[in-house]
Amino acid sequence: MKISDEEMMSPTDIPFDKVPPYRVKVVEYVMPTTRNERKQLIRQHTWSAPNLPAEYIYINLCTDSGTNAMSDRQWGAMWLGDESYFNSKSWDPLQHVLKQYTGMEFVMPCHQGRSGEAIIYETFVKKGDLVPSNCHFTTTRAHCYFQEAEPIDITCSEYFDEESDFWFKGNMDTGKLKKLFIEQGERVGLVEVVVPNNLCAGQPVSMKNLRDIRSIIDKYKRRDVIFSLDAARISENAWMIKKHESGYGHKSCLDIVKEMMSYADISHMSAKKGGLVNIGGFVALKDRFQYQRLQPKLIRIDGFMTYGGLAGRDLEALAVGLMEGVNDYYLADKQRQCDVFAQACEKRGISIFHPACTLGVWIMAEHCLPHIDKHNGPATALCVQAYIEGGIGLTSMDSLHRGREDSRDPMNLDKIQLAPYELIRCALPRRVYTDAHYDWCAESIYRAMSWGDKVPPYVRQNMNLSRPALEKRDIGLRAFFDEYEPLFDHP
Ligand code: F0G
Repeated sequence: MKISDEEMMSPTDIPFDKVPPYRVKVVEYVMPTTRNERKQLIRQHTWSAPNLPAEYIYINLCTDSGTNAMSDRQWGAMWLGDESYFNSKSWDPLQHVLKQYTGMEFVMPCHQGRSGEAIIYETFVKKGDLVPSNCHFTTTRAHCYFQEAEPIDITCSEYFDEESDFWFKGNMDTGKLKKLFIEQGERVGLVEVVVPNNLCAGQPVSMKNLRDIRSIIDKYKRRDVIFSLDAARISENAWMIKKHESGYGHKSCLDIVKEMMSYADISHMSAKKGGLVNIGGFVALKDRFQYQRLQPKLIRIDGFMTYGGLAGRDLEALAVGLMEGVNDYYLADKQRQCDVFAQACEKRGISIFHPACTLGVWIMAEHCLPHIDKHNGPATALCVQAYIEGGIGLTSMDSLHRGREDSRDPMNLDKIQLAPYELIRCALPRRVYTDAHYDWCAESIYRAMSWGDKVPPYVRQNMNLSRPALEKRDIGLRAFFDEYEPLFDHP
């Protein structure tokens, strides 16, 4: 059965906000494990789910990146892959879809998000620049350091207010952006906006915020400034705008995505998220000269302009996946699953960050394990215990794991700042797990939390002896190399 993009959007009285708009054709069996085995495994693998062999993680919410289940339409399209090096025919459908999706005229494929970012930062960010963002994702932050520029995170104040019921806590603080331009505008050549704001509890950004950022750049810039949109999960952000920003309820998410893109000069996307593929990405631009400046860099780093480091079959799968990922029924279902998980947590007294938005659910570990100090990794400890209880993989984003280096003095570990919240990210792979899986995740976290002060605090291990110190331009990737150990054994 092959259903077209248009048919997938046909009017219906089937409640696709309560049941998924698809059914399952292929299943993947998982490795059964016991609690004792999991306790051994996590000890052997430096007390970290991301370090475990993935086969031993029953429900893996460590990331939603590249973990999507593809559709029959995508697998079918892959057979059409043209593997010619130059001007593969498979670039045609993707190019067509990318122009439609972004509303931008110039598009290039890249093998994933960070390779697209690399050529943008190499071209448009200079030594000594300030690069403001609503909160850089790890890789754009790392690209700033690599260019010897300074990443500056200016997230809106509502994000830091736990009680706030604002829907768009991922926004940039536009007052601070304006001040930065007025005081140091000659140092700002690129503004990065992440939609939704992955490292700030996945919170979405409003259309108004994007519009305001555009007008601040236009009014206050002192040199050419690129408004760059990190669009990894833009369709999921569009869903939040549709539901919670006035004037957008009647619009399709595709139209909302296009309007979001219209305020930016460049957009880069890791399609491993909202593109519903396992590998892929793109860069889209409005300006021909800027596009032409990127071309030689793309060839050097990723590949020729019509494949960007991807196989022809990957291009085909992405062309189909992008449109499936922005389908309103599909997005309603993704948010529904997120709500199911959030409610399963709250029913058990597990504290979560509000609102729980399309990307996933963030657990407030400082409330779950109040006996563990912010310096001692309450989220790190809860993640490990939850793996032991139920075989679930989660990502710790607490002060111990993800405390921010001072971007003016990044090598000085004494200046690492505490995180505003001790968060665990439960990122939802797309079309992979059922409601029952999410209920088990909530149950596992509940069992972990129920051990109370028997769950051990963590400390960072001294890594200086076991590997070369990171260079300054790689320091933004510190979190991937740090190791931790519990002060006593887990129950
Ligand atoms: N931008 C955002 C907002 C991301 O979340 C990611 C990746 C990237 C860019 C880089 O894309 O991995 O394709 O090179 N995020 C993953 C995560 C790794 O788990 O959040 P990539």
